[in-house]
Amino acid sequence: QELQLNLDQIEKNGFDHFMLKEIYEQPSAITDTYRGRLLVDDGIIRMAGVDDNLERFLNAKRIVIVACGTSWHAGLVAEYIFEDLARIPVEVEYASEFRYRNPIINSDDVVIAISQSGETADTMAAIKLAKEKGAFVFGVCNVVGSSISRETNAGAYTHAGPEIGVASTKAFTTQITVLTLIALKLAKAKGSISNTDFHMHLRELETIPGKIEIALNSNEHIKKIAFKYKDVRNCLYLGRGFNFPVALEGALKLKEISYIHAEGYPAAEMKHGPIALIDEEMPVVVIATRKGHYEKVVSNIQEIKSRQGKIIGIVTEGDTSVRDLADFVIEVPDTIEALTPLVTTIPLQLLSYHIAVMLGKNVDQPRNLAKSVTVE
Ligand code: G6P
Repeated sequence: QELQLNLDQIEKNGFDHFMLKEIYEQPSAITDTYRGRLLVDDGIIRMAGVDDNLERFLNAKRIVIVACGTSWHAGLVAEYIFEDLARIPVEVEYASEFRYRNPIINSDDVVIAISQSGETADTMAAIKLAKEKGAFVFGVCNVVGSSISRETNAGAYTHAGPEIGVASTKAFTTQITVLTLIALKLAKAKGSISNTDFHMHLRELETIPGKIEIALNSNEHIKKIAFKYKDVRNCLYLGRGFNFPVALEGALKLKEISYIHAEGYPAAEMKHGPIALIDEEMPVVVIATRKGHYEKVVSNIQEIKSRQGKIIGIVTEGDTSVRDLADFVIEVPDTIEALTPLVTTIPLQLLSYHIAVMLGKNVDQPRNLAKSVTVE
């Protein structure tokens, strides 16, 4: 038993939990994701699975993304990125809903299935259905040789390395990285992005691992915020645009491992319901980075403040407006809007991690959840 314990410690590489180790691995995981693919100096993105099927992608009238859980959130981020950069209409579906809905699929559709494990039963069934209807199915998986990676027509691995913590962290950010690479590649091929913009995106993507390192430096500060809010029963997460799915993912992380009820919402939808919940007991985590509807988010924050809600703002370095209104702010480095999810996700992961640890929960193996859901 002692031997087992030691092995476990070695695998955790000095971290208390796999989840924390995996959060800290994100800079290197993302570098591994784009290694050999993102050739900044040549201005090229090389991805065999896309290159070999470029015509199918370019002729697609739409892209349908199917996934579950955190992978579905990565799909939602991808919807914003694909539509913005590549101007291809995207629909994002829960695999479990898609498969039972008699969905309309055409042979010129491209279906992208996202799955960390590559074994999720509902995602697998959705892929089979899409293939039966003649669609081209592209997989974004982490586990090499997994069932989904074998069932799809082509694909791209995330190369995040093994993810052990049940709550997905590095799989999420590497999925977004792969999907961003694909969107940029298609945008270039279609001519929907200018050369200057394309190169700027490539250069900026290369800086993301360093920016995540900086975001991770807020760990001690986030721990203090976690201590302050660990005993709440509810928590709201708000974001707009590219960061709306990040709000959903932040809420999922908190509920998965700390069992605190949390909900993510598009910030502007707050007035259609969640605002009724806001009082002095309710912490609201708001993603309010400089890029992306900043003024609108600030006015959402004012609405929370006037109802005595507690505000935790995820802000761009140097921000002052949100700092004046919020109870706490957590800074992240500035980047272009499409890439903000890769940095804003980091403090949300750390916040839920510390809350769960302080509550004495089993962070790596939360109750009732499984890493890979191979049954319906
Ligand atoms: C389970 C896991 C989640 C994961 C989801 C989808 O619910 O606990 O972390 O996001 O399955 O899994 P997949 O392997 O398909 O990405």
